[in-house]
Amino acid sequence: MARRDQPMIEFSGKKVLILGGMGFIGSNLAIRLADLGADVTVVDSMLAQYGGNLANLDGHQDRLHINFSDIRDSHTLSYLVRDVDIIYSMAGQTSHVESMHDPFTDLEINCSSQLSILECCRKFNPQVEILYASTRQIYGRPQYLPVDESHPIVPVDVNGINKYAAEMYYTLYHKVHGMRCTSLRLTNTYGPRQHLRDNKQGFVGIFLRLALSGEQLRVFGDGQQLRDFNYVDDVVDAFLMATGREDLHGGAFNLGHGDKHSLLEFVQTLAEFTDVSYEIVPFPPEHKAIDIGDYYADFSLFSDKTTWVPQVDLKSGLERTVNYFKTRQNLYW
Ligand SMILES: NC(=O)c1ccc[n+]([C@@H]2O[C@H](COP(=O)([O-])OP(=O)(O)OC[C@H]3O[C@@H](n4cnc5c(N)ncnc54)[C@H](O)[C@@H]3O)[C@@H](O)[C@H]2O)c1
Repeated sequence: MARRDQPMIEFSGKKVLILGGMGFIGSNLAIRLADLGADVTVVDSMLAQYGGNLANLDGHQDRLHINFSDIRDSHTLSYLVRDVDIIYSMAGQTSHVESMHDPFTDLEINCSSQLSILECCRKFNPQVEILYASTRQIYGRPQYLPVDESHPIVPVDVNGINKYAAEMYYTLYHKVHGMRCTSLRLTNTYGPRQHLRDNKQGFVGIFLRLALSGEQLRVFGDGQQLRDFNYVDDVVDAFLMATGREDLHGGAFNLGHGDKHSLLEFVQTLAEFTDVSYEIVPFPPEHKAIDIGDYYADFSLFSDKTTWVPQVDLKSGLERTVNYFKTRQNLYW
């Protein structure tokens, strides 16, 4: 519990831009920053296949600004980035499978647009601080566990390559132009406001939707694959605690959770709060080809610098998540 007492920068009155702020993590961050008194503008393209959902900011619209724009439009972006103190770069095409079907869209959103954000800031707001949501997917199949930041980068899909290229741009712009950029490499994140409505977003969202709908879910492989799951409030804390930290600029840091669980344990925990039923089936070839096996992170680099450690265990996180969605199914799928 000590972590949340740690000093953070004063967010009150700060002008904050959240790119992808109608999505899962961005909207949770937006609400928290509004609570802290920040002047928050949320930017989102609301493309139907992605995670943007008006319900995510239901009840909060009058204390935030909402701008429906696409980060691929650099002309608009060059105005949006002016005169803000902090940018959280959370917009993304997040489906790994989809990145293999439509690699150029992934390239545009997850790579070119990130370079465009940096160029707009370099020209019009070089002092802004930027926090980028990177991913554990860049490591590919772990060669050792837990995975630390020195682990080789061997992405297994187009999404991982583009996310890593973006991360490198943020690092480079810090080194060469002195820009104030930090990347966090997120692991599987779950919680309220998560994108649940289709099967493109990975097993956590799919399992949650099927469990809440009373439908049988399918666990691929033997269900023993290990993951470290972060509840979204912990991830929001990590972004807030990384903000205003000059010593982190130019770096990329793992998030993670000390506890690791197999996929079957995840389902069995879900069964404590839902009427879930499941079957174990062989991996479909499309999924097998980009599966990374077991993954859990060593996040001590970030933790040592910021004192961040996750506070929410899987059981209480899933209980909160189920309670959130139970009464809002019609808004999410
Ligand atoms: N959720 C996870 O488990 C996880 C894990 C690793 C990394 N990440 C990263 O964190 C970030 C946020 O993920 P999330 O789970 O909240 O996803 P999400 O899909 O819920 O949110 C992403 C938001 O970006 C918006 N967006 C997409 N393309 C856009 C564009 N061209 N212009 C403007 N907005 C656009 C979407 O509409 C959506 O609201 C992503 O960059 C993702 O790669 C997430």
